[in-house]
Amino acid sequence: MTIQIITIDGPSGSGKGTLAAKLADHYQFHLLDSGALYRLLGLSLHKKDLLDSLEDQQGLKQSVTIATALDICFQSTEQGISILLDGEDVTQTIRTERVGEFASKVAAIPELRAALLSRQRAFVRLPGLVADGRDMATSVFPEAQAKIYLTASAASRAERRVKQLQAMGLDVKISDILANIQARDKRDMERTVAPLKPAVDAYIIDSSDLNIDEVFTLMTDFVNEKLAG
Ligand code: DC
Repeated sequence: MTIQIITIDGPSGSGKGTLAAKLADHYQFHLLDSGALYRLLGLSLHKKDLLDSLEDQQGLKQSVTIATALDICFQSTEQGISILLDGEDVTQTIRTERVGEFASKVAAIPELRAALLSRQRAFVRLPGLVADGRDMATSVFPEAQAKIYLTASAASRAERRVKQLQAMGLDVKISDILANIQARDKRDMERTVAPLKPAVDAYIIDSSDLNIDEVFTLMTDFVNEKLAG
């Protein structure tokens, strides 16, 4: 029996995470948040003081071993999904900007990306999977039945992020957030291994002027047609 896979790729702040969770809930599929794996590996290597040794052979070898054996657990709780690393709850910690930076370092190293491949593929289980990331359609699940690329202008992503941070009581400047987003986009799109780009057969949605419900409707119309075919 074919296990159906829906991939959602795109830049940070495009709304991928929210939409991927909504789709998984709608189709009752499993969910892979691949960014969380990069964040967990980044945090683990930081804790072991290896993040600055990725350029030397020995450090890289040790890091690949750690990536392959990473002790992680996604637990469903009443509050949502809890994420454990080596038995410790790091659900909040991995969402910080600092750990985002660690993840971004890790994501640029081909050997570490390769080490996370089988981990990501292990999420494919019946009845199906929604996979959220940057290279889900182009390199991890090229066989996916429905491929979506969700994007939005850097300006609208910056605006959304500022609102989120302000709601958390933080005082932020939109110009700083916009600069961060543009720098991260450039890094994600220009890296040589698995750069962020739409798969040739992806459905591209620009969410700059759409709300979540409008994007969700576009996605389910597309996915229903693909899964039926
Ligand atoms: O989506 P996120 O912010 O949680 O991703 C964290 C980092 O990991 C970000 O720098 C992009 C990178 N990443 C990646 O290279 N490939 C993926 N499939 C998912 C995330």
